[in-house]
Amino acid sequence: MLKKRSIYYCADCGITLEALTDGKEAKCCGKEMEQLVENIKEASLEKHIPIIEKLDGGYKVTVGSVLHPMEEAHYIQWIELNEGDKAQIKFMSPGQEPIAEFKSDADQVSAREHCNLHGLWKSN
Ligand SMILES: [Fe+2]
Repeated sequence: MLKKRSIYYCADCGITLEALTDGKEAKCCGKEMEQLVENIKEASLEKHIPIIEKLDGGYKVTVGSVLHPMEEAHYIQWIELNEGDKAQIKFMSPGQEPIAEFKSDADQVSAREHCNLHGLWKSN
């Protein structure tokens, strides 16, 4: 069962997808994809928990309190800012800093990020 806004992962090819609606299932490489749950893989918290700072007219999200590596073999693939019924995603590449700025006038936000090795993480 696909859940809207959940992230799914193919362990064979490494692809991730976000469900934009509820649905029956997502398959990749001939198998049902795994629904990722935030913060479950063993890895250093300080390098993965997104830190949100309020800016004038928006938010800055930094992964983590100690900057996460951004190397070809290990990097943050995307950072997402959630604002109730809206979301913004910044796609990242190796070599960039794991920091994203988003324009927003929302009062309450949360953030998620996906590390290619250590999975899905959410802000506190
Ligand atoms: Fe990582």
